[in-house]
Amino acid sequence: MAESPLTAASVTAALQDFRDPETGLSVIQQDQVRDIRVEGNRIALTLALTTHSAPLWKETQQACAQLLQTRFPQAAAVDVQLAVHERPALAIGQIGLKAKSVIAVGSGKGGVGKSTVAASIALGLKRAGCRVGLMDADVYGPSIPQLIGVHQRAEADENKRIRPIDFEGMPVISMGFFVPPGEAVVWRGPMLHGAIMQFLRDTNWGELDYLIIDMPPGTGDIALTLSQLLPLTGAVIVCTPQDVALLDAVKAIAMFRKVNIPVLGMVENMSYFLCPDNGKRYDIFGHGGAKKRATELDVPFLGEVPIQMQIRINGDEGRLAGNFTDDQSAQFFEAICHRLIKNLSASVSEKPKLPSLTVL
Ligand SMILES: Nc1ncnc2c1ncn2[C@@H]1O[C@H](COP(=O)(O)OP(=O)(O)OP(=O)(O)O)[C@@H](O)[C@H]1O
Ligand SMILES: [Mg+2]
Repeated sequence: MAESPLTAASVTAALQDFRDPETGLSVIQQDQVRDIRVEGNRIALTLALTTHSAPLWKETQQACAQLLQTRFPQAAAVDVQLAVHERPALAIGQIGLKAKSVIAVGSGKGGVGKSTVAASIALGLKRAGCRVGLMDADVYGPSIPQLIGVHQRAEADENKRIRPIDFEGMPVISMGFFVPPGEAVVWRGPMLHGAIMQFLRDTNWGELDYLIIDMPPGTGDIALTLSQLLPLTGAVIVCTPQDVALLDAVKAIAMFRKVNIPVLGMVENMSYFLCPDNGKRYDIFGHGGAKKRATELDVPFLGEVPIQMQIRINGDEGRLAGNFTDDQSAQFFEAICHRLIKNLSASVSEKPKLPSLTVL
């Protein structure tokens, strides 16, 4: 094949099928490629991406440069700069929440690390550059305030809407911000529904790329409520490698599917223990069960997190964010965030779409 001539027009043509990771639509058609400059045999351009895709920015930038280098072998240099492309989050469902993706983190079993994983996914996406909110839907046993070490009271703003607690730039809401620690919440089902409604509809979340919801253990009550209130992007299932936990995870997957919440993937927590004394690895709850079960159930496997004393200590001491400053644990949570967003991006590239008003 003859070399394509190196002009701004041919660079535009070469990127015609290059997809935006958020929508799966052409970056050219969405006006996300700016300032194309061809100087001699050097190409320079600016690729504007949304904060929703922040975890994928680097690889998208590399893929764009790679494509141009392959298409124009005569180019001595390809310089792709990144910029932010503003694409507003529109209201989803009928409750007015402005979020592009709403992701529930759940499991069938208690104590497997849902809240740890949910808060870590929220923090990981936030650190990558996304606009993230974290909602603790465990109304009876809220643990997010403890994990992130925030014990403020949430209050209403001048418009009588709940003002979420700001945790390092991330809005967070939890029943723990309304009930004094140690006090029990004794409610009937309909009140539970009301609380979730208030957290979603009457809370001033601002505009979010992702709302991450920490689900309570057990029954499908909250999942059903959520599915009635807004179209969820999907659920992440957390489990440990034990057979009993896996069995519960299978039930949780069935439950989410029953209420039409797609399952985005499975995380195996407490996967193994690396002994700091002798470097030996112990598969305390067995290992690899979640990955195997995920394949059987046709659910993506998002990654594993080993048992680490520091993760437990960070949670107990309200320093969950420490999971990202410690190389030992950061890599696992970062990999899970990356795979989750990569999968979302792959699914839109199959069915490209602009965020739109969805009414249930
Ligand atoms: N990978 C890990 N290594 C060490 N400790 C962990 C790990 N994951 C979670 N933990 C600890 O296990 C305990 C339970 O975790 P967490 O509260 O996240 O579970 P959960 O599934 O949300 O529980 P519940 O069902 O009560 O909501 C916490 O003390 C937490 O710090
Ligand atoms: Mg929990």
